[in-house]
Amino acid sequence: MTAPEIDVEKLSAEQAATELERLAAEIAEHDRRYHSDDAPTVTDAEYDALRRRNLAIEQAFPALVRADSPSRRVGGAVSEKFEKVRHAVPMLSLDNAFSDDDVRDFAERVRRYLRLPADAVLPITAEPKIDGLSLSLRYEGGRLAVAATRGDGQVGENVTANARTITDIPEILSGNPPAVLEVRGEVYLSHADFLELNRKQEAEGKPLYVNPRNTAAGSLRQLDPSITASRPLKFFAYAWGEVSTMPADTQMGMVAALADYGFRVNDLMKRFDDVDELLEHYGKIEVERGTLPYDIDGVVYKVDDIALQERLGFVSRSPRWAIAHKFPAEKAATVLNGIDIQVGRTGALTPVARLEPVTVGGVVVTNATLHNAEEIGRLGIKIGDTVIVQRAGDVIPQILGFVEEKRPADARNFTFPEVCPCHLKTPVARDTTAGGVEGVVRRCSGEFACPYQRIEHLRHFVSRRAFDIEGLGEKQIEFFFNDEDLPVKSPADIFTLAERDAASLKKLKDKEGWGSLSASNLFAAIETRRTIELDRMIYGLGIRHVGETTARTLARAYGSWQAVHDAALAVARGDTQAREDMDALDDIGDAVIDAVARYFGEDHNRDLVEKLAAQVNVVDAEMPQSDSPVAGKTVVFTGGLERMSRDEAKAMAERFGVKVSGSVSSKTDLVVAGPGAGSKLKKAAELGIEVIDENGWFELIGAG
Ligand code: IVH
Repeated sequence: MTAPEIDVEKLSAEQAATELERLAAEIAEHDRRYHSDDAPTVTDAEYDALRRRNLAIEQAFPALVRADSPSRRVGGAVSEKFEKVRHAVPMLSLDNAFSDDDVRDFAERVRRYLRLPADAVLPITAEPKIDGLSLSLRYEGGRLAVAATRGDGQVGENVTANARTITDIPEILSGNPPAVLEVRGEVYLSHADFLELNRKQEAEGKPLYVNPRNTAAGSLRQLDPSITASRPLKFFAYAWGEVSTMPADTQMGMVAALADYGFRVNDLMKRFDDVDELLEHYGKIEVERGTLPYDIDGVVYKVDDIALQERLGFVSRSPRWAIAHKFPAEKAATVLNGIDIQVGRTGALTPVARLEPVTVGGVVVTNATLHNAEEIGRLGIKIGDTVIVQRAGDVIPQILGFVEEKRPADARNFTFPEVCPCHLKTPVARDTTAGGVEGVVRRCSGEFACPYQRIEHLRHFVSRRAFDIEGLGEKQIEFFFNDEDLPVKSPADIFTLAERDAASLKKLKDKEGWGSLSASNLFAAIETRRTIELDRMIYGLGIRHVGETTARTLARAYGSWQAVHDAALAVARGDTQAREDMDALDDIGDAVIDAVARYFGEDHNRDLVEKLAAQVNVVDAEMPQSDSPVAGKTVVFTGGLERMSRDEAKAMAERFGVKVSGSVSSKTDLVVAGPGAGSKLKKAAELGIEVIDENGWFELIGAG
């Protein structure tokens, strides 16, 4: 640094902008020297001072925060993290099938949705589900431009430098690829390479890797590409994201095209015309599993015709046109050392089995869920028993039963507690249904007075699908929850942390486990999430029954935080119109509305929400396709439809920005009526609402 530093308060906006530009470049250069060249030219303290100044200027001039600001690359030192990449097309996950019947149901669902006649063939492909990690490779002009991990499906990490070291990933495509092509597939490590890697580790006295998948993931997410290069990662291509011109119109055709461009594709992928053949192929792959040189954990089925895939679309995060048929779970026996009680966000008491560590399917398992008291009774297990543990995919391990011959003489019964394990010892009550029937869930009635529930609420608030604050995970939440100088007891407290820290004599940077860099990174990470999408805001509140999908539905329907908040308060007041409006939304019913009413009917919650809203800027929800002629209109479908199923009609309308409602009211703009329409058609006539038929609807949306 050459120019003398001017006090932040004295900077003009112009000076601030110039300095932010300089700091961004300078810090990036130091990062490069430190991480890529391993040759830093400044001390940690000097580096820290640069980042602090950058942050101070940004706090004084929030409008000037640069897209390439070091504070945006948060968590750890800057390049201790990868840059984020927003996927042009989201990377979806797959629904699971665990039995032949699940697969038959899948094919049936697809047929029903598409209204296929009983005799129409529906070609479906079957291929191994590779147990690795997915990667998206963007090629522009046939050359690799960006490689990104899946991340949360919307935003992943930029691992381009690492992907370039994988021999299966071509830098330049062969043949005649489209101008823009995103290739998706699985990065994995073969059994032989995994064993060889572990042999080397052993020879060097280093700890052994647990399984090929984790090792592949760890290898790809190395900041130093030369480490990735030293691990023989492989890649299978099986899907795509953005494609400027599709080279084929079937799944098989697309995969063949990917092979032509130079990718390895799986030769066990086949196409079949009926479900029995799919299941037969599943059986074959299951038999071959043991001899394959890589791990697979199931078989993926995909509707072959891409036009049909597009009609089917997706629900939440999974396509309707594909499913993963998982192999049966793996099992192992181990000793049940004890049973602890965990208190969840909603106060539910869940017994958790503490197990003698055991490897099941390549992963060390130490805990298993026992769900509830009845489950313990049903299993008949006692502490000290040898139990059978099962782990299926990413699901929490489960206990299947115990080995009778191995029951020790001193095996103890577990007694379910009558009070919450927190210091308040609040009595535990069983849930009752509307009809007064006792449920199996025991709940602590302490709600926000119960420290366990409060802490779980905060954990939920910062979780990945909610506010997703980097560097503020479960451990840190617990730290701040219990910290006397900088307590975080409610979501709003997170956003006043930096301010309180500045005013406090006991600074975060001086606390055990923190330093000036990690503290300033945390404050920067919090700052970047002060602006938050509406659906994340709603989901983050942790209202019972309001999961991500419901939060998204509410966000899209109401558009702004103000509107959501008004509607929630109205519902809590018992306003019948507000309730009807909410009820008209897709997939929202009494359970959700009652939960929203209960939440906003509570003084404490209203106070919490207001304090939070005062701290954050909530971005309005994007209305899908707002330029379509029907965008923003409320439409009711009634009667029979001939060209598509009701579900498909609804999904399509939503893509055009329509709010599909189940009932006709004064807010309805249009009714699409097919043969057999009854009371809704009558009501539309009474209210003078426009009614059209199915063909009219297609013409209106330009799909006639
Ligand atoms: S298709 C839209 N095909 O499984 C469908 N996925 O549980 C996108 N995976 O995230 C996925 N082998 O990482 C597909 N042959 C295969 C696969 C496969 C493994 C993984 C992939 C995905 C996950 C979903």
